[in-house]
Amino acid sequence: MYVCLCKGITDTQIRDAAAEGCQSLRDLRSDLGVGSQCAKCVRQARAILREAHAELAPSRASEIMPVAYWSMPA
Ligand code: FES
Repeated sequence: MYVCLCKGITDTQIRDAAAEGCQSLRDLRSDLGVGSQCAKCVRQARAILREAHAELAPSRASEIMPVAYWSMPA
């Protein structure tokens, strides 16, 4: 689905950018141009970015914490 019509950016491209390390709307703007013209897409782009980060969080946790941490008894 197109999110930013001015730049032709889709939700998939925003999710891919999040997976590649895009952290903020500012990053999206500089990497993809999202919100750099009329800015009508900003609200939706931010929501998709947050959603993508939430979905990535469990997999990213294992990158930050060593495997041994997760297998330790409580
Ligand atoms: S729709 Fe994204 S800048 Fe216009």
